[in-house]
Amino acid sequence: MHLKSLFGAFFMGLLCLAWQPLFASETVITVQTARKGAPIAPTMYGLFYEDINFAADGGMYAELVKNRSFEYTPNALSGWKVMGRAELMADGPFERNPHYLRLQGMGHSEMWTGLQNEGFFGMGLRASADYRFSVWARVPQGKPQMLKVQLVQPSTMAEHQQLAEVKVVVDSPEWKQYEAVIRSPREVEKAELRIFLADEKGSAWTGETCDVEHISLFPVDTWRGHRNGLRKDIVQALYDMRPGVFRFPGGCIVEGTTLDNRYQWKHSVGPVENRKINKNRWMDCFPYRCFPDYFQSYGMGFYELFLLSEELGAEPLPVMNVGMACQYQNWEREEAHAPATEQALDPYIQDCLDLIEFANGDSTTQWGKLRAQMGHPEPFCLKYIAVGNEQWGRFYFERLKFFVERIRKAYPDIRIVGSSGPGPDGKDFEDGWKEMTELKADLVDEHFYRPVDWFLNNMYRYDNYDRKGPKVFAGEYACHDHGKKYNHAGASIYEAAFMTTLERNADIVEMATYAPMLAHVEGWQWRPDLIWFDNLRIARSCSYHVQAMYAQNKGTHVLPCSQSEIAPKRKDGIFSSAVLDETDDSFIVKVINTTNEPQPVLLKLEGTKRVGKVTTLALDCSQYEGENTLDNPNAIVPQENYLTAQGNTVRHTLGAKCFVVYRIAKSDKK
Ligand code: AHR
Repeated sequence: MHLKSLFGAFFMGLLCLAWQPLFASETVITVQTARKGAPIAPTMYGLFYEDINFAADGGMYAELVKNRSFEYTPNALSGWKVMGRAELMADGPFERNPHYLRLQGMGHSEMWTGLQNEGFFGMGLRASADYRFSVWARVPQGKPQMLKVQLVQPSTMAEHQQLAEVKVVVDSPEWKQYEAVIRSPREVEKAELRIFLADEKGSAWTGETCDVEHISLFPVDTWRGHRNGLRKDIVQALYDMRPGVFRFPGGCIVEGTTLDNRYQWKHSVGPVENRKINKNRWMDCFPYRCFPDYFQSYGMGFYELFLLSEELGAEPLPVMNVGMACQYQNWEREEAHAPATEQALDPYIQDCLDLIEFANGDSTTQWGKLRAQMGHPEPFCLKYIAVGNEQWGRFYFERLKFFVERIRKAYPDIRIVGSSGPGPDGKDFEDGWKEMTELKADLVDEHFYRPVDWFLNNMYRYDNYDRKGPKVFAGEYACHDHGKKYNHAGASIYEAAFMTTLERNADIVEMATYAPMLAHVEGWQWRPDLIWFDNLRIARSCSYHVQAMYAQNKGTHVLPCSQSEIAPKRKDGIFSSAVLDETDDSFIVKVINTTNEPQPVLLKLEGTKRVGKVTTLALDCSQYEGENTLDNPNAIVPQENYLTAQGNTVRHTLGAKCFVVYRIAKSDKK
């Protein structure tokens, strides 16, 4: 060969080398930075809240007293121990919660009348923190009586069980609310609230009567300091995620086991004392995890949930009952549901219309006025409403059409979310999509609690979806691994990989929410969950970090992203997606390695010559069974690092079972 051509061939070879992966196994991920694709909906990557696993009372709702209005059934004194003369009465001041307790002194200096509340799995008290005690009370004979209110630790070996005491004098024969602040001297995980009836000087020697109702104890330090507020540490975790949408209040809880205990939003608004207590349908849904004292006080009702959406910066997405009880629990029982006629469904439809008015109407409207009276004169700017939770088949379709017609007529701009049933494939699912398309639902809610195999098989799920039909809402999903229904890092890595298909198809996927959101370690019915907590602590799961990494790096527009090698269907491999973030002039590439080996990748940012600073956020899920726990909440958390780009390329090796977010500045001037 001529020397010149030999040199030429060598040079060409070198050039090729520069464009070829350095190692045979290196995956080249090419991002076309100049081809700005579909905008990412601001609602992408949100939260789904349902009162399951003691998520509300005993969880995010900061009330510490269980059964504060004596309304649990059949045991109205559930959660309470009473001593001396205490009688349950039923003609109280609050129409929807008529019970109260009549306390009468024993007329003896050594015999006390009183009551004690056990809280939800005890009451968690923090050191040097203030708690606001309140009670509705009256002294029918007009003789002032004292309530000695104590925080106690019944299990202590110390001489005194009481941690702190405050005295409240009840002096009116009319019902009135009394309040006092009491400070806990130290941290106690399982405290209780004890109240003694005493005379005005504090002695047991009284024969008088004092009626008590709606007995409440809240930390003063709630999320944003709201009264009737929420647990700060839990809401902080939700806030930190930066969710785009907040779906509430369920879930099957919307439907109820029967229509009688469906979630009725009108029972959850107005003064808290008069919100009608409801049996939680998760109380006895699984006899192997049964909680006979699981009720809904509705203290955290629709007003509080709208407010929370606003404070989280997320679009509210209420889910409404479609005139149907839970289909799972009433298999093929037509009679379990409201008849499928417009007339029979009218109250349910009216609930939807009134809810929109509650959220958006001005204070001249009936429901808008209530919202204003509750403290929010400005509208909540509701844009979405879901009708039906997880419904399928004829029963659903026959009913939904009346809702769609009436909502469209009254509020043409509200986007309606319909359901495709409990599974992500099969006949019911397909019928659901067909019907939602015909009914012109704006979005279709899909649910998938599935094993790893399903996730591996669905990594490109939305690539071929119909672009002309309704948008997709992946409303409930979680990887349940191979029947392992508990949180672990290994399952989270498949969720991260799957989410690339949500992101790549942001032109049709408008929102997505993992489920369920919260679980008390002593009160759960369903695993895995996003966040675990006990009375004082929380643990953000690996799945939480996956969701947060997406939500915090959602970008503004999809960028085409291709790989030199794609994992065969149902096989582990490298999965990726890319977005542009116009808010800070960067490209964001998400890469997931689901294999058990480290994998080198080369990111090529085509369409730009030179990129700037590269920040990486890596979640290492290689300890497959590992997870964050209350004792070790930061065992697996995203680690931030930096890389140097070479021109428009970034070379990196991802660890086994690892999720990395690369945030790449568009320009090296930054
Ligand atoms: O998230 C738990 C339950 O799963 C929801 O209530 C229901 O919608 C689904 O079946």
